Amino acid sequence: MIGSYIVDQCLEKGCTVVIVDSLVVAVPTKENELREVPVYTKAQQEKYGAKVDLRIGKMQDREFMRKALQGVEYVFHLAAQGGFQRPFSPYFDSNITGTSVMFDIIWEENKNGTKNVPVKKIVAASSMAMYGEGSYKRKNDGKIIHAKQYRKKEQFEKQQWEYRCPETDEVCEPFPITEDHPGNGTSAYAMSKQLKEKMCFAFGQELGIDICMLRYSLTYGPRQSLHNPYTGMISIFSSLIMNDKAPTVYEDGNQMRDFVFVSDNAAANIACMESANANGKCFNISTGKGTSVATLATFLIKAFGKEKTLKTAFPGSFRVQDCRDMVLDSSALKKATGWAPTITFEQGVQKQVDWVLEEKKKGEVIKDYFTEATAKSGLVHTAESDAKRRKMA
Ligand SMILES: NC(=O)c1ccc[n+]([C@@H]2O[C@H](COP(=O)([O-])OP(=O)(O)OC[C@H]3O[C@@H](n4cnc5c(N)ncnc54)[C@H](O)[C@@H]3O)[C@@H](O)[C@H]2O)c1
Repeated sequence: MIGSYIVDQCLEKGCTVVIVDSLVVAVPTKENELREVPVYTKAQQEKYGAKVDLRIGKMQDREFMRKALQGVEYVFHLAAQGGFQRPFSPYFDSNITGTSVMFDIIWEENKNGTKNVPVKKIVAASSMAMYGEGSYKRKNDGKIIHAKQYRKKEQFEKQQWEYRCPETDEVCEPFPITEDHPGNGTSAYAMSKQLKEKMCFAFGQELGIDICMLRYSLTYGPRQSLHNPYTGMISIFSSLIMNDKAPTVYEDGNQMRDFVFVSDNAAANIACMESANANGKCFNISTGKGTSVATLATFLIKAFGKEKTLKTAFPGSFRVQDCRDMVLDSSALKKATGWAPTITFEQGVQKQVDWVLEEKKKGEVIKDYFTEATAKSGLVHTAESDAKRRKMA
């Protein structure tokens, strides 16, 4: 989704764009099945003709990447396997092998001074997931804690949801995360993004390429997949509501997330590509404002006009690798490039709802892929699933 907006904004600036995408559906039941070329990519090709060159293939494929990178000067690198499902290895295959093949090709194609692949700068997508748990403020003395670990399972089992200070056990307030948080995410996806950051900086330095890494906050908007049950809270809740099912919220629903609209994210990517101040840096892309997951669910039920028939479900379920609060401070990005978000949460979510309704009108079948995929994943704890696990042990 996000890449398509970067393409739009690059084309508007008169650039020629090569798009690399495997178009493989990231849903286990349909693994390796090719998606059709998205409608917006077709529209971009029709409008901009030879200025858009879509190449379908995987970043791990060396010869495919060699051809795709010929003559390319600036790279926005977003291709990645996202989510938290099993198995573990696809995250490293896509997000680490794929990225290192790109650097291999740049090295191979330039080592004899031929400059066939004259890449000058790479702006690459990291993720808020790399932080693991968020940052918090201790209420009694105002101390800021960059959490080193997720909350303990025993805490979840007691349905104590708030983050607690590991030294004093007091409940802490969410605090916007700055880029100096060390990053302790332990999911395969989070670790692949942490390693990707290190790898891009190290290989970029060796090959003389400017690098900027961007830690995206939850990014949403029209074109977000309505078929992937693992990414995109707004898409997941929307597909449940469209199927007359209540959006199910983990914990007590008061966990905070920072939702940034997709065109704002794309504009931040472009600002970082254009600004030398961004070279060699990592930035958060975010609004700096927290919205609770329960607020999002209520907003969506109302926006789809289902407030008379649907209510958010709070079954007390949880996932042990979920952070409690994740609000990101983007003031460093603003200072370096002048970028600031322009779309409010309410405006952005309404735009996405309007798009979902439009897609349905055009004949898109919006199914609930989430319920079955969640049950199969075994990652969501409920009172019943935990009792069953204990019985089987
Ligand atoms: N959307 C978010 O909330 C969010 C948050 C943090 C980080 N990110 C990061 O932003 C980037 C874009 O995310 P998005 O939301 O647009 O997701 P998306 O799934 O819409 O786009 C990712 C694209 O990458 C492609 N892809 C995956 N592995 C590939 C590979 N090995 N080779 C070629 N293509 C491959 C997929 O086919 C897909 O079209 C990703 O790197 C993601 O990790 C997204």
